[in-house]
Amino acid sequence: MKSEKRRALPEPFKIKMVEPLRITTKDYRLEKLKTATYNPFLLKSDDVFIDLLTDSGTGAMSDHQWAGILMGDESYAGAKSWQHLERVVKELTGMPYILPTHQGRAAERILYSTIGGKDKVFISNTHFDTTRANIEFTGAKAIDIPSVDSSNLEKESDFKGNIDINKLSELIIEHGAENIGAVIMTVTNNSSGGQPVSMGNMLEVRSICDEHQVMMVIDGCRIAENSYFVKHREPDYANYTYEEIAQKMLQLGDAFVMSAKKDGMVNIGGLLTMKDKSLSEKCTNLLIISEGFTTYGGLAGRDMEAMAIGLKEVFDPDYLHYRIRSTAYLGEHLRAKGIPVVWPIGGHAVYIDASKLYPNIPLDQYPGQALVCDLYEQGGIRCVEVGSVMFGKYDSKGKLIPAKNELVRLAIPRRTYTQSHIDYVIDVFDDILEMKEQRRGFKITYEPPFLRHFTARFEPV
Ligand code: F0G
Repeated sequence: MKSEKRRALPEPFKIKMVEPLRITTKDYRLEKLKTATYNPFLLKSDDVFIDLLTDSGTGAMSDHQWAGILMGDESYAGAKSWQHLERVVKELTGMPYILPTHQGRAAERILYSTIGGKDKVFISNTHFDTTRANIEFTGAKAIDIPSVDSSNLEKESDFKGNIDINKLSELIIEHGAENIGAVIMTVTNNSSGGQPVSMGNMLEVRSICDEHQVMMVIDGCRIAENSYFVKHREPDYANYTYEEIAQKMLQLGDAFVMSAKKDGMVNIGGLLTMKDKSLSEKCTNLLIISEGFTTYGGLAGRDMEAMAIGLKEVFDPDYLHYRIRSTAYLGEHLRAKGIPVVWPIGGHAVYIDASKLYPNIPLDQYPGQALVCDLYEQGGIRCVEVGSVMFGKYDSKGKLIPAKNELVRLAIPRRTYTQSHIDYVIDVFDDILEMKEQRRGFKITYEPPFLRHFTARFEPV
C-alpha cells in the first residue's frame, strides 16, 4: 500500500447537523467512574466525551439516508423500501434468498439454530462472541483457527485475519465432513484485531469446502472495509472497484450474515442471505415466528430504505479511503508515542496491548480494565477491554485462567468524530504514559455467569 504514514486525511463530508458533547472535569469523571463501579459499560453516555466503545450502530447517516428515512414505505408486506433493499443486497451478494433481520445476532440465531445442534462443529478464522454464543446455544462446538501470523501482535503482515488453511483441512477430516455445521469466515476478523482476510484465503476455503461438501458462511459486517485492504494489498485485485471485490468475495459463500450496524451505515439492521432454497424455507419460518414477516423482519420500512442507501455509500472510494486512513492515523500516532498497538492497524478499531503498556499490573488484576478506566478518567474516552475481563475463566480452585491477550479496543464510529477528536484521543495518551508506573489494577466484586464484562463490578486494588 502506498505509504501515507501518519498523514491526516480531511473528512470527505461536511457537517449539516450537530450533537453537542459535554466537556467534564477529571474530578467529575472520577466520581462517575466510582458510581459505575469502574465498569464503563455502566456509565451514562452523557458523561462520555469521545465514545469508542463500538463502531456498531454508532455511525452518522448521510443526508441521502435521512431523506430515505422520510421516503420509507411502512407497508406490512411487499413494501417499496423492502424491494429497494432486496435489489441492492441481491446485487451485492449474488444470492437469491434475502432475509432482513433487526441486527446481526438475530440472523445468526436463525441460521445457526437451523444448521447447528448437538454433535455439529463450526470452524472459523475467529467466531465473534455472539456467533459463538448462538452456535454453542444449540449444543454445537465452535473452533477458532486464526492464521499463524495473528498470534504475533506486532508482526507486519497483510492479512492477519486469514484462517489457518492447513488446520482447516485437518480439522474437517478429524471431525468428519458430515459433522461440520459450516466454515465461518469473519470479514474483517473483529476479534483478532479487525484484521483483513485475503481473497486468496477465501478462495482456498471455498475449494476445501467444495472438496469436503461443507457449507461456507461469510460473516461480512465489515465487508467494505475488507475490500479496501484487498484492493491495496492483493495485486490481482488492484483494478477492481471496492464493490466488485465485495461481490467476488460474497459470491464464494453459501450464506452471508451481516450486522448492517457496521458497513450497512445504519443504526439498526441486519441481513441473512443464502443460495439454498430448502435452507431458506426453514430460516424463513423462524424469521416469521420471531422477527417479523419476510419483507421487513423486525425493521421499519425507513430502516430498510436507509440500509439500502448505506450499502451503496459504503463503497464510495473517498469514504473508504478516509475511513481506513483515519483509523490508521490514530494507530500510527499512538505507536509513534510508544503505545504498544496491534500491528498493522485494522479497519474499524485500534487495539492496544494493555499487559505490555502496564507490565506492573498482574493479569489477575486486569491491566486492560485499568487502561479503560484511565482513559475515561483522563480524557472522558470510553472504550472496551478485550482481555481477561471479557474472556477469562477460572480453574477448579478459583484461580484466573487469563485470556490469550490483554487488549483494549478503541473502535471508531463511522463519520461521527472529526480529525481534531482523534488528535485529542492521541494527546490523552501522553497523560497515560506519564502516570503509567503508578497505576493499580482492579478486583472483581460482582460478576454474572455469562458475558460478565457488561455488568461486572470492580474495585481498585
Ligand atoms: N459479527 C461480527 C463480526 C460482529 O462484530 C458483530 C457485532 C456481530 C456479528 C453481531 O452483530 O451486534 O448487530 O447483533 N459486533 C459489535 C462490536 C457488537 O462491538 O464489535 P449485532
